[in-house]
Amino acid sequence: MRVTAVLLVAGAAAVALALAVMPGTADGPSGAAIYAATCASCHGDRGQGTVMGKPLDGDKVYGNTQAEVAAVIRDGIPETTMTGFKDRLKDDEIESVAAFVVSLAAAHE
Ligand code: HEC
Repeated sequence: MRVTAVLLVAGAAAVALALAVMPGTADGPSGAAIYAATCASCHGDRGQGTVMGKPLDGDKVYGNTQAEVAAVIRDGIPETTMTGFKDRLKDDEIESVAAFVVSLAAAHE
């Protein structure tokens, strides 16, 4: 019981720390949080890629700027499992998560 409580507190602290360290706008939806909830299952929690989705932490085929990444997120890539998110995310959420994806690559330069 006690151990569970300690683990819960430690887990909450780790999440708080991760959110504090990750880039994101203070007044808009957090790109990091949207990424973790929506994209990490396929692209990996740090954009390292999984069997379901390619890495996003380096040079990208469809472009590396925030505008290019946002366009991919909005419209998707035809005939792949990368579907467009324009029906599921608002425009400002797409911009936030695009900025976060750009930051994943920048961290490796
Ligand atoms: C169901 C798995 C899946 C999910 C969920 C998913 N993706 Fe993808 N994504 C893919 C796959 C697979 C590709 C590669 C498609 C191809 O073959 O070109 C891709 C490609 C991309 C690309 C283009 C990479 C390049 O090289 O130009 C970007 C950017 C991207 N995804 C971002 C995201 C973001 C941001 C999210 C969350 C909003 C997301 N993806 C959610 C599977 C996924």
